Amino acid sequence: MRKTITDIQQMKVRGEPIAMLTAYDATIAALFDAAGVPMLLVGDSLGDNVLGFSSTIPVTIEDMVRHTAAVVRGTQSALIVADMPFLTYATLEMAVTAARRLMQEGGAQAVKLEGGQAMVPIVRRLVECGVPVMGHLGYTPQSVHLFGKARVQGRSATAARRMIEDALALEAAGAFALVLELVPAQLAAAITERLRIPTIGIGAGPHCDGQVQVFTDILGLRDDFKPRHTRRFAELAPLIRSAVAAYVAAVGERSFPTAEHSSRMDEAELREALEGLS
Ligand code: KIV
Repeated sequence: MRKTITDIQQMKVRGEPIAMLTAYDATIAALFDAAGVPMLLVGDSLGDNVLGFSSTIPVTIEDMVRHTAAVVRGTQSALIVADMPFLTYATLEMAVTAARRLMQEGGAQAVKLEGGQAMVPIVRRLVECGVPVMGHLGYTPQSVHLFGKARVQGRSATAARRMIEDALALEAAGAFALVLELVPAQLAAAITERLRIPTIGIGAGPHCDGQVQVFTDILGLRDDFKPRHTRRFAELAPLIRSAVAAYVAAVGERSFPTAEHSSRMDEAELREALEGLS
């Protein structure tokens, strides 16, 4: 049985930390599902983690629908949240269209969008239409060109107060959970205490109700990139490089494939096939 947003919200009620991870394809998503991750995010971090872009900005709704559908196909238990890509929710009509595609064509159970009080009418409309919405405050990567670069948000009293008000407004609009990205730990704790819905932190300290990480970061798949807010639970990049180098060498020295990786045909059939050929 797939988890529902109620299951996720009940985890907050029970004080049970919520572990969320990104996933972008069926094979990886199946591994994470089997490992017991209750909620997977098909993040638009697809752009910089899979598609080779340097930000999330170029990611399109077609990209998100395709990868969301793959993650859904690979999983049975996790709740699948899909990111609404850059500028696909600039108006109510656009937001409804994008959410329809992510849920009907992609099979997501919920969508995520970035922004505070300005997003309230969008969140309210989507929720009225039956779309579970996860909010996203703090550093919001789709606004990278406004921020300049990824940096901690809400350090001043004014900015912190605004973030608390944004969080309360998103909850009142019907958001079922809220990502807090690059937020001071004390502010994330203050928001978490004031909300009934779960907060899911990334670089927001240990007091959120849950944590979300980009899977390539925790598995060490990009050894040129290690943000402060992540911990590498594995170092897969050197492992993959040496496994692939071993494969290249084995092919090069003809030690792979061997008879055990090959199939044979009846010799008489082969002779007949070759008869008369030069
Ligand atoms: O796209 C993404 O991976 C995200 C997380 C950083 C929360 O939005």
